[in-house]
Amino acid sequence: MLNFTFSNTTLIHFGHDQIAKVSSEIPLSAKVLIAYGGGSIKNNGVYDQVISALEKHNTIEFSGIEANPTYETTMQAVELVKKNDVDFILAVGGGSVADACKFIAAAVYFEGEPWDILSKGAEIKKAVPLGIVLTLPATGSESNCGSVITKKASKDKLSFQNKKVQPVFAILDPNVMNSLPTRQLANGVVDAFVHTIEQYLTYDVNAKIQDRFAEGILQTLIEEGPKLFTDERDNDVNANVMWSATQALNGLIGAGVPHDWATHMIAHEITALYHLDHAQTLAIVLPRVMWEMRESKHHKILQYAQRVWKIIGKNDEQTIKLAIEKTEQFFNDMQIKTRFSDYQLGEEVVGPLIDQLTRHDMTMLGEKQLITIDRSRTILQASL
Ligand code: NZQ
Ligand code: ZN
Repeated sequence: MLNFTFSNTTLIHFGHDQIAKVSSEIPLSAKVLIAYGGGSIKNNGVYDQVISALEKHNTIEFSGIEANPTYETTMQAVELVKKNDVDFILAVGGGSVADACKFIAAAVYFEGEPWDILSKGAEIKKAVPLGIVLTLPATGSESNCGSVITKKASKDKLSFQNKKVQPVFAILDPNVMNSLPTRQLANGVVDAFVHTIEQYLTYDVNAKIQDRFAEGILQTLIEEGPKLFTDERDNDVNANVMWSATQALNGLIGAGVPHDWATHMIAHEITALYHLDHAQTLAIVLPRVMWEMRESKHHKILQYAQRVWKIIGKNDEQTIKLAIEKTEQFFNDMQIKTRFSDYQLGEEVVGPLIDQLTRHDMTMLGEKQLITIDRSRTILQASL
């Protein structure tokens, strides 16, 4: 196992009727910004629950945060926060609202051009504290310190990580999932699945707890994910999927093990240029990353095949091939297509995506930095 330092300071209230707890988690003296997306929370009762919980607080609102949140939109919220002396931000939404609020929280006190936080890794000295009412289990953003923001003008989708934007608390009520469209439910399962894979399918460092925990998350998603589309769906299915997504990216399974993240880096470029959903891009890229890197990931792919899928092939080569096929089939079972052609995209995407990766210095990706631009090109071409 590798050395690590681990702390996750986000307090979580999980379960039914927990949204009311926002009132006791935010100081009464605070001026609160309630930030949300395109309005789903107004149709599913979440907005009403939040407003009623905060009836004694001094609040203002910012709405219209889009999926794959933009720098342009978040900077409008930064102005609002500054003008109104906001001292607590409550994000009510999925990963996009959560990520947007993290960036807003950091940008408010940033001296200079806040985009530098994303493009240059500029230091964040101070951030507005924030809490999250999660409405879509997927990203894990509710209890991690990462955020992904897109600059529309330049088509850059970049991320930053900073403990100063770690949410103080997160409310996870699985009931919120009942209003999610099938597409978003599927996206969430696939995103959480790929987060787990990015921290598990690397090379062996004899981290038994992390491996077994990751395998547990993968198996839970494989078992419970498809039930979201069937009559078997009940509160426990929702709860298990929601908790899996949080656990997949709250730092625990990633402590003391190598990380990959090549799939995410390539996938972010696809969303930046072609606006596919985050999970759709992951589903296109991951099977091809697994195939291209099958030698360097040999040991872990075999372990994954045997423990997660119970595959016993004729030989290692066949086992690995079957594991990759099973992975892609799972995405298809989750109703997510896995080829560029499924999204009416073809050969023309490869050049621009390679240019983006080069421009963003994504030229040595993966746990061993073995994914060169040439190999990214091979991966993209194989994904057509
Ligand atoms: O905007 P509203 O009206 O709320 O609608 C949203 C949005 O259209 C809707 N929705 C959310 N909760 C709902 C609901 N509709 C009905 N009922 C509900 N309960 O779902 C749509 C998608 O929401 P979004 O927040 O964009 O989805 P997700 O949670 O998948 O977040 C995706 C973003 O997170 C980033 C992605 O790149 C992408 O920008 N990621 C963030 C990560 C992190 N911070 O750690 C890691 C991830 O790898 C990922 O990159
Ligand atoms: Zn993701």
